[in-house]
Amino acid sequence: MGWNSWNKFADKVDDQAVRGLADALVSSGMKDAGYIYVNIDDTWEGQRDAQGNIQSNSKFPDMKALADYVHGKGLKIGIYSSPGPKTCAGDEGSYQHEEQDAKTWAAWGIDYLKYDWCSADKVYKPSDMQAVYKKMGDALKATGRPIVFSLCQYGLQKVWEWGASVGGNLWRTTGDIEDKWDSMSAIGFDKQTTLEKYAGPGHWNDPDMLEVGNGGMTNVEYQTHMSLWAMLSAPLLAGNDLRNMTSAIHDILTNKEVIAIDQDKLGDQGRRFSKDGGGEAWSKQLSNGDLAVALFNRSEGMQSVVAQWEILGLKGKHKVRDVWTHTELGSFRDGYSAAVQAHGVILLRIAR
Ligand code: GLA
Repeated sequence: MGWNSWNKFADKVDDQAVRGLADALVSSGMKDAGYIYVNIDDTWEGQRDAQGNIQSNSKFPDMKALADYVHGKGLKIGIYSSPGPKTCAGDEGSYQHEEQDAKTWAAWGIDYLKYDWCSADKVYKPSDMQAVYKKMGDALKATGRPIVFSLCQYGLQKVWEWGASVGGNLWRTTGDIEDKWDSMSAIGFDKQTTLEKYAGPGHWNDPDMLEVGNGGMTNVEYQTHMSLWAMLSAPLLAGNDLRNMTSAIHDILTNKEVIAIDQDKLGDQGRRFSKDGGGEAWSKQLSNGDLAVALFNRSEGMQSVVAQWEILGLKGKHKVRDVWTHTELGSFRDGYSAAVQAHGVILLRIAR
């Protein structure tokens, strides 16, 4: 869990913004809710010096000092590069400097690397991809510093089958998310299906960073986005400007019971178990024996969505709790059904 600069700032990110976001993570309560990583995405890169060492550009005058500042807040710091000669924004990549860059980042105090394929297809064949990612995975390990390794190659070459074996802790499963209902729902509802078995503690499918609070969806849709990512056990990297979010967005990002579902230590990736038009019921096994159940409505009007105990392998009566509102709804036999607003969700915890 953490924050990443790309979705809101893109190439406008700089040292001052990152410090401000680190401050805001703490003052907003996001850090206490579990958001720990402050990840700088593309466009921090400058030129290499005469010895080939990567340097930051003028937006980031001193990366070591910035890392110290972020660490001083009890947070961790992440950075971004590409195995190709250039990053997706056209800046310097790590091609032929993999070990050197890993050492530089470790010396700065970096705790997380997002490694984005970008221009690598100009110098490598698709079949080289595993070895290319392993090279950086090994280089990070060789630094002796624990550095989270985030693979970003849009789900090519069935990355979920080999991502963990090259040292990956998470891997993007699709192209880039956009701050739009259609983009978020296609990625979250449709494109993670069949990938469930590849997710688990230490190695996760990554449906991309959160767009919650960026303005292109309604708060109802952002609540659905957050609920879906929690059901998917997805990495939660906020992508909005935490320095000036509304209280509604703050509450969507920091609901403790929703985060507990996402971060549940079993690491089960949830799945759809029934569908009726735009109504979808999803379940996720939790470590204390409870089930998380989400009643989603993807349609344009109010719809009743049902979770039937039989499909979930449940018998008799079960206690149901509304996770967003922290309310016990009662004990129910056979199942639970509710009217769900358009593009909305009701997220439940069902006791065994
Ligand atoms: C790719 C990635 C994005 C972002 C940009 C930066 O598009 O998928 O998440 O990192 O590159 O250029």
